[in-house]
Amino acid sequence: GKGIAVFTSGGDSQGMNAAVRAVVRMGIYIGCKVYFIREGYQGMVDGGDNIIEANWSSVSCIIHRGGTVIGSARCTDFRERAGRLKAAHNLVSRGITNLVVIGGDGSLTGANLFRQEWSSLLDELLKDQKISADERAKYKSLHIAGMVGSIDNDFCGTDMTIGTDSALHRIIEAIDAIVSTAYSHQRTFIMEVMGRHCGYLALMAALASEADFVFIPEDPCVNNWQEKICHKLIQERSAGQRLNIIIVSEGAIDREGNPITAEKVKQVVVDKLHQDTRITVLGHVQRGGNPSAFDRVLGCRMGAEAVLALMEANDNTEPCVVSLDGNQAVRVPLMECVQRTKAVAQAMADKNWELAVKLRGRS
Ligand code: F6P
Repeated sequence: GKGIAVFTSGGDSQGMNAAVRAVVRMGIYIGCKVYFIREGYQGMVDGGDNIIEANWSSVSCIIHRGGTVIGSARCTDFRERAGRLKAAHNLVSRGITNLVVIGGDGSLTGANLFRQEWSSLLDELLKDQKISADERAKYKSLHIAGMVGSIDNDFCGTDMTIGTDSALHRIIEAIDAIVSTAYSHQRTFIMEVMGRHCGYLALMAALASEADFVFIPEDPCVNNWQEKICHKLIQERSAGQRLNIIIVSEGAIDREGNPITAEKVKQVVVDKLHQDTRITVLGHVQRGGNPSAFDRVLGCRMGAEAVLALMEANDNTEPCVVSLDGNQAVRVPLMECVQRTKAVAQAMADKNWELAVKLRGRS
């Protein structure tokens, strides 16, 4: 059978294990040899025990676990050709020519580069007598299928990245817990949530928790946000509300591009309204813990589809990302998605928020 390897790269997210499990089981089911690569690209470069064959039971009891059981790492070696040459050798010597990468846009871009270079890497390995002419011919193309694992939901081309739903659940649990104590003391809480430059988690958390105000990077507040927020908080309190919840996305900015921090917001609330105010920064709690049912099923569906995509690939097939489109698992061109995701980052840097939001939407 064909050789497939699966690895997780970049920041972890809940649901990655479900995706790994689905790749292993679907691969074995259709007669492939499936390998784990531990510690992301670093494991691919280092080889040895980092690349091991998986069996049916090696992925038992992982679907309910958060994080990634096969590890993830940032890797500088893979950025150098020498590192990629070692990685190619490690794969060819095990008969692996199919890769499933679960990670963010950086990890997917790396995989695409690797594929483009594959032929010249094999030529060099042949020249150095690391592989035989037979192996050179047999393993001439590398096939790639990606899945996006990230709590941020910041990738263009999929409705939901693997992990976002679980992180949102974690945030909501935390806000619910805060609400009960805020109620007792008539306090205002400012909660900082993750998401890097994407406000999805903050916005959805605000809607689901009945928050009073939310700051997100894609909609920088007009410059009088201080007055607006005070007006809103006074309005809610005079309507009988005992507490206020304000959500600040970690990437929130004002029109000038200056960060809007929880501390800045607190200062305004305390100085102008004299409300008893506390800050809670949720941090990595959001990325930890068990995956939600949605993320488990999403990981399963994506993983199975990724294997099918690899099996159907021929020498001319471009790498794909398996994504969710209106509840369907679909294959979309990897580089198109990566480029659109980069264009969003550029539009945000140019303060063209309308364009950023437009690009994030469906094409
Ligand atoms: O991309 C996921 C994420 O959790 C972001 O929301 C956050 O900005 C970042 O990673 C934190 O990175 P690190 O785990 O390296 O501190």
